[in-house]
Amino acid sequence: MQAQIINRFGGPEAFELTEVETPPARAGEVRVRVAYAAVNPLEWKIRSGTLSPMIQTEFPAILGNEFSGIVDEVGAGVAQFAVGDRVAGFAPSGSYAEYVVTTSDRLSVVPERLSLERAAALPTAAETALRALALIDVQAGETVVVNAAAGSVGSAVVQLLVARGATVIGTGSEANHGYLRSLGAMPVRYGPHLTEDLAAAAPGGVDAAFDGGGRGFVDQILGLVPAQRIVTIIDFAAGAKGVQVAGGDPLALTAGAIGPVLQLAAEGRFATEIDTVVSLAELAGAHLRSEEGHLRGKLLVRVAELEAEAVQA
Ligand SMILES: NC(=O)c1ccc[n+]([C@@H]2O[C@H](COP(=O)([O-])OP(=O)(O)OC[C@H]3O[C@@H](n4cnc5c(N)ncnc54)[C@H](OP(=O)(O)O)[C@@H]3O)[C@@H](O)[C@H]2O)c1
Repeated sequence: MQAQIINRFGGPEAFELTEVETPPARAGEVRVRVAYAAVNPLEWKIRSGTLSPMIQTEFPAILGNEFSGIVDEVGAGVAQFAVGDRVAGFAPSGSYAEYVVTTSDRLSVVPERLSLERAAALPTAAETALRALALIDVQAGETVVVNAAAGSVGSAVVQLLVARGATVIGTGSEANHGYLRSLGAMPVRYGPHLTEDLAAAAPGGVDAAFDGGGRGFVDQILGLVPAQRIVTIIDFAAGAKGVQVAGGDPLALTAGAIGPVLQLAAEGRFATEIDTVVSLAELAGAHLRSEEGHLRGKLLVRVAELEAEAVQA
């Protein structure tokens, strides 16, 4: 199969589009022909070597953990999936490739009305948003500030909070303020203007906060929101200040929570914006774009066109 591999840590030029052996589905595993792989910031942090003290990488390595596609082979003992099923989920074997092998707990069936393109954009955003929000228990009527609200995780958090009846204030660059309004959030600027903008947007105060952008946000918000009602997915040092950290092993994610979100997406009640779709050969450019840090939603890699007809959502 074709795969983008790296043989060393480095810039996006480290990627090599190469022919590698197609992995078999062993007992307990499912092999999926990949339609779309998603690019997450995690992967350029692994590719560059920044995360090497925390995450071990054996070369040659295929990066990418999120994907959608069609089940192609089922290993012994797997009863939940069959060849031909449309699925989305996580694959630590690396999704920048024509095939992945993964375990069934990392997969969720994609509802009929949801395209494989839309489905590939959802697993990480939905899983992370739900895991982080579980730590701050937001109630209807509360006011929550979401940092990096236009990003893939931030936009999922905004939608889940709006659906819960919270008032949501989202930080983003001004180019994304219209988008944030369309998601149901009141937009404010991040950076030095944040406290001033927040005072105007929420004169009654803020009850809780989600941080998907880091860069000093926790320290800005600590005087305004109790530490235990702030959750960050990026500023791991903030745990020492009593802030909730949604961390864990990013390559051990399971798909249990994402089925209901895929269903909401199929019904048009949840969406992750797709920033750009590139081919597998164009992966290096997509990594550069992700590293620039101003995405509106998700960057996808179209690995294979597996859906002949347009699907509704
Ligand atoms: N802990 C976990 O389990 C977990 C899981 C998933 C992701 N993450 C991490 O969470 C972060 C966000 O992931 P993502 O996939 O949502 O990223 P993304 O889609 O690339 O979004 C990044 C967002 O950051 C915003 N941003 C840029 N500069 C900023 C600043 N100075 N202050 C605040 N926001 C700023 C951008 O907003 P504008 O475009 O509006 O400028 C953009 O929307 C990444 O670092 C990722 O590695 C952690």
